[in-house]
Amino acid sequence: MTSYRRFRGDTLVIASHNAGKVREIADLLAPYAGRFPSAGAFGLDDPEETGETFAANAELKARYVAERSGHPALADDSGLAVAALDGRPGVQSARWAEDASGRRDFGRAMERLEEALGNAADRRAWFICALCLAWPDGETAVFEGRVDGSLVWPVRGANGFGYDPMFLPDGHQLTFGEMEPAAKHAISHRARAFAKLVAACFEAPA
Ligand code: IMP
Repeated sequence: MTSYRRFRGDTLVIASHNAGKVREIADLLAPYAGRFPSAGAFGLDDPEETGETFAANAELKARYVAERSGHPALADDSGLAVAALDGRPGVQSARWAEDASGRRDFGRAMERLEEALGNAADRRAWFICALCLAWPDGETAVFEGRVDGSLVWPVRGANGFGYDPMFLPDGHQLTFGEMEPAAKHAISHRARAFAKLVAACFEAPA
């Protein structure tokens, strides 16, 4: 069994500029650290996400921030992979929703997905979340969570975000867009990645 370096400090930098994401991660990890500043608090910008995998992107973001802030840093990268599209949109999930001016419209992104699927009989898809915890000396640990399902059309539900209304998790009747947030969070790719990270790298307070 791999043994992971444990986080025992007070400060964990969240390598994101998305205020909602920083708050959500801070809530999840509140028992294990005292302060969760964002990368912006150190005057750091976002590095370009040039990786070809979720894990590579999470790692490059976490390393960038840990090395420059001098504190351990946590980054995530996530998205939707579609079997009939050879894993696309994958690491391009957010970009598929952008128009020429960079504005995101996920209604349009889901239409694009449906067009790309055409008459494909195989509608399997999965969400992936990769989390990377990086230390200032360059050591990293990466954890992935995945949830499998299929794509529905027309889309259903107004909860959640991104591709949620199009995603029906295996074994369920409701799409992520129809589920209550707590029901999604119980089975999501993000929850699964966090469970692995916490078990490996964080210690419950005494
Ligand atoms: P990022 O990890 O913040 O770069 O987000 C990647 C993109 O993947 C998001 O903008 C969404 O399009 C998509 N995505 C990631 N996780 C979810 C989810 O739980 N539901 C719906 N879409 C998601």
